[in-house]
Order: sequence, then structure tokens, then C-alpha cells
Amino acid sequence: MLVLEISDICAMVTKIGLKNFYIQLCEYLTEDFKHWEQFSKSPRHAVYVANGVIELMPICNGTLYTFKYVNGHPNNTRDNKLNVVAVGMLADVASGYPLMLSEMTLLTGLRTAATSALTSKILARKQSKRLAIIGCGAQSEFQVLAHHALFDLSEVRYIDLDPRAMERFSQHLRPESFTLLPMTDIQTAIEGADIIITATAATGKQHVLKHGWLKPGQHVSGIGGDSPGKTELDPDILKHSKVVIEYFPQTIHEGEIQNLGDLAKEYVYAELWEILSGHKPGRKDDLEITVFDSVGFALEDFSILRLCYQLAQEHHSGKMLNLIPNGMSDCKNLFGLLREKT
Ligand SMILES: NC(=O)c1ccc[n+]([C@@H]2O[C@H](COP(=O)([O-])OP(=O)(O)OC[C@H]3O[C@@H](n4cnc5c(N)ncnc54)[C@H](O)[C@@H]3O)[C@@H](O)[C@H]2O)c1
Repeated sequence: MLVLEISDICAMVTKIGLKNFYIQLCEYLTEDFKHWEQFSKSPRHAVYVANGVIELMPICNGTLYTFKYVNGHPNNTRDNKLNVVAVGMLADVASGYPLMLSEMTLLTGLRTAATSALTSKILARKQSKRLAIIGCGAQSEFQVLAHHALFDLSEVRYIDLDPRAMERFSQHLRPESFTLLPMTDIQTAIEGADIIITATAATGKQHVLKHGWLKPGQHVSGIGGDSPGKTELDPDILKHSKVVIEYFPQTIHEGEIQNLGDLAKEYVYAELWEILSGHKPGRKDDLEITVFDSVGFALEDFSILRLCYQLAQEHHSGKMLNLIPNGMSDCKNLFGLLREKT
């Protein structure tokens, strides 16, 4: 079975270029979302633990099966551990044999950002140039650069409670062509922004953005509210916006719309696949406020694992590890393996 380590992902992304990687990933995501109805889907399996959540995210079409193990532990950063880490697997449906095991901490950052940018492409104003991001943690640079791959950004305003996070963010993004503006309050940070990303790991039901602060035409990509009881947006925002989600059976428990209770169905305009497949239009005019209530769905992991498997073959990346018995002369002689080794 092929194994992709962090170094393999870094080498592949560097070789083809981050912008190019994002563009290819958006193509894979679009193709998979267009085939939404062919996937066997379920909300992720979440185990809520004292400091966070541990989740399994499986999905399958007629050809490939994938799953991801991922956590969310917002307090981990106090111990210099990542909030989110992940590993994932891609398997062949016909035989059930695993094909690839991959690191997915980086891949989660990349796929979350690509999904967010792809959604901004259909929901934000066409000529969007100014972006604001609230929360400069592990996901933040991925988000900004995925948007820069699809939009020609001219200005990025950023804010975090932690000045070290802001410093790291600005160091990474200083070489880019857009102007970087550090902010000290959120309301000023989002003034004039075409696209606003919320990527805080705040626990509890926060109002990182308040309804009265938003102006006609703005698009909000809310990625940080992704667990029961952990949301970022003033629920009034949802009542006055075009709200797009990934998958209702999962988002109703984990996303911003959990705060709308029984009214949630009424306020959700579409699942993302419906717009990408042309069943519903995206943004209607330059005045409506749009919101992507993102929690992260298994199909996004499927797309990036599918892309990385393809790229790994093209670039001869990764290592073959002997995790699955193969080359046996008698496939019923499993016990023989034990004898060979002892
Ligand atoms: N939707 C998805 O698919 C998806 C995928 C990955 C992560 N996430 C979520 O995105 C969030 C961010 O993840 P991360 O890995 O970047 O976390 P992180 O802990 O590395 O960074 C979060 C940052 O938010 C800042 N912050 C917290 N409250 C704030 C506030 N009120 N105002 C400004 N800044 C604030 C923190 O100081 C920290 O720097 C998490 O909630 C995570 O669960 C969602």
C-alpha cells in the first residue's frame, strides 16, 4: 500500500506550485460535488471528549472509498499541539483493498481552504478583491492563499486575539502581491471587505461577527463553527443572508444553523452541490449577503485523497509499505504468513 508522509505532500505541492495545486483541487472538488447523488454519504461519526472531538469521516462512490480520522481540540495550542490533526485512507471499492494511507493534517488545511475559496467563487461578488480574516491560526494562510488562487486579491485585513499568530501570519504572507493590514477590532477589519473568513477556534456560541456589522454584497465564509455548541456567527446573520451548507444532516448538528433550531431548513438556501451542479443559481446580485456555513464534509477529503493518489503516481511519490498481505501463492493460506516469519 502506498503511504504519503508529510514530506511527500510538501514535495508534491512545492513541485507543482501551491496555486496550481489549489486550482487542480478545485477541479476535483467540482467534479465530485457534481456527482453528489452517486456517493454513499453519512454525517461523520463524532465522539465528544473532555477537551474536544474525535471524528471518523467515511464516504464512497462506486469506485473509491475514503475515510479520515480527525480531531478538534481547541485548547491543544496551549501545550504547543495542533488543534486539528488527521490521517486518511483511500481504498478500491471493487476489491475492498486499501490503496493509500496519507497524512491529512496538511491535506485538511488545503481542502478546507479550497472548498471555502470554491464556494466564494460562486457566492462572493465576481470582482472581489478585498478579504478580511478573523482568526490567524493553523488554517489561516491556507484560506487566504486558496482565495488568492481564485481571486486576484489586492488587500487582506487580519485579526487575532493572539499577537504571535498575527505575526506568523504576516511573515508567511508578506511576499504575496496583496497589501496586508493588521487590525485591532473586528468591525473595522471587515469594513469594505468583499469576502470575510471566520476561522477562530473559540469554544461556545460566539458572536465573532454581528449582524449589524455586515454590509450589502459581503460574503462570509464561516469555517470555525463546526461542532455542537461551538459557533461563531450571530444567528441573525443567517436570517438575513443566502446560506449555503455542505450536507444538511451533518450541518444541522455542527454548523452555524444549529442555532436556528426548527427554522434551519427554512433559512438554508442550498447545499453546495446543488449550486455546483447548476440546480440552483449562486449569488443573485451585488447586494445580497451570502454565507458559507462550513463544517467540513467527507467528500472534500475524498477529492483531495483522489488528487494526491493521482499526483503520487505521476511524481513517483511516497513509499510502498507492506501493510496488506500480497503476492500470496494461496490466498487461503493466511496462517502461512505467520509460519514464514517465525
Ligand atoms: N470547516 C472545516 O472544514 C474546518 C476544517 C479545519 C478546521 N476547522 C475549524 O477552524 C477553526 C480554526 O482552526 P485552526 O486549526 O486554525 O485553529 P487554531 O487554534 O490554530 O487557530 C484559531 C485562532 O483563532 C484565534 N481566536 C480565537 N477566538 C478569537 C476571536 N474571538 N477573535 C479573533 N481570533 C480569535 C486564536 O487566537 C487562534 O489563533 C477551528 O474551530 C477548527 O475546528 C474547520
